[in-house]
Amino acid sequence: GEGLRLFDAGFVNTAVARSRITEIDGAKGILRYRGYPIEQLSEKSTFLEVAYLLIYGELPSKNQFDDFEYEVMHHTYVHVKLAELEQSFQYDAHPMGMFIATMAAASTFDPSGNPALAGSDIYTKDKKLRNKQIFRILGKVTTIAAMAYRHRIGRPANPPQQGLSYTENFLYMMDHLSEPGFRPHPVLARALDVLFILHADHELNCSTAAMRHIGSSLVDPYSAVAGAAAALYGPLHGGANEAVVRMLESIGTVDKIPAFIESVKRREKKLMGFGHRIYTSYDPRATIIRKLAYDVFEVVGTEPLIEVAQALEQVALTDEYFTSRKLYPNVDFYSGLIYKAMGFPLDYFPVLFAIPRVAGWLAHWSEAMDEPNAKIWRPRQIYCGEARRDYVPIEHRD
Ligand code: SDX
Repeated sequence: GEGLRLFDAGFVNTAVARSRITEIDGAKGILRYRGYPIEQLSEKSTFLEVAYLLIYGELPSKNQFDDFEYEVMHHTYVHVKLAELEQSFQYDAHPMGMFIATMAAASTFDPSGNPALAGSDIYTKDKKLRNKQIFRILGKVTTIAAMAYRHRIGRPANPPQQGLSYTENFLYMMDHLSEPGFRPHPVLARALDVLFILHADHELNCSTAAMRHIGSSLVDPYSAVAGAAAALYGPLHGGANEAVVRMLESIGTVDKIPAFIESVKRREKKLMGFGHRIYTSYDPRATIIRKLAYDVFEVVGTEPLIEVAQALEQVALTDEYFTSRKLYPNVDFYSGLIYKAMGFPLDYFPVLFAIPRVAGWLAHWSEAMDEPNAKIWRPRQIYCGEARRDYVPIEHRD
């Protein structure tokens, strides 16, 4: 017979993978990386240590971390031709578009980047090569991201530095939030590191599912990361942090909130930064980011839009339209305000989401490469088009 015909738009009810990386309980607002609560990791760990945990499954020993950090930080350089390619964009090109294009191009600078040449099982069999790719991509991501920012402000790229942490080196290459001597402000560098921890993974969100989907064809991981970043770029996903600030700016002042809420109820607009496919409660990351905002405002001065954001949140948390749909703030609601207060350009925010999420994408990609009898992803469809019919020559068509 036809077999079971289940139409499940957006995979709302379909599990396409088994994973041991991240656990989310949407009703209770729980998020754990490899069993560790996000609250503890954001307080006690660093982004690079969390990247190790996500990819290899355990917190590293001191030696393991030092080796990992050495490898990643010694792969922060990009080929000059790749830098030239990235700097060939218009000065006002969207930095996320530059990031995606440059990440895809990066695969052409890596001999194993050509799967047809390299043979189809290198990533499932050769763990050493897989790790090499992981170090290269984690290392180059910040350089590619920083170069998009420097290009935007018309400044030359800063070469990566040794002796700085992963996030400090990123800020150094941005030459942003730095005090004299290029040492990034410690509070701001830590705040960004915590934001990177919070954005590192989130089980099978749209972009991570894209990473697994693309990776299932055994293409190289640079190309898969470029595809995942393309999914993250969308305003319903990682592009939401930029959309939230644009929404808050369009509202402008607290007294304009009722009119805005009415437009949302008329479905003319969405309350960006609210709602989630999995969380039907407050996103635990939003709770942490909300507090983090104040540490940042202490240093850079408050962000006037925070007042509109809080008033909007209060309305949404008490209004039956939102509570009945279980719409709570998600990770994007407050993160954009911190990035704005830190002086990053609005359209750079999705890039700040992509950098840490590369660790999650690589962790899921690596786990998928280890999956025994892995299959190329090929979902079924329900055909609801025309039945068989014969060709009609154009002279007989009306
Ligand atoms: C991220 O998946 C992940 O884990 C993603 C992420 C990660 O870390 O990777 O957490 C990061 O992408 C967070 C989400 C960022 N996106 C936004 O903030 C954009 C605004 N949010 C919505 O677009 C929406 O909430 C989604 C896309 C996030 C989730 O949509 P769902 O689960 O498909 O919900 P839905 O569209 O089925 O909506 C259910 C109801 C609908 O009402 P009805 O039309 O049926 O009456 O809720 C309404 C929707 O209209 N609704 C909203 C809304 N989100 C849902 N109404 C107003 N504003 C919103 N934001």
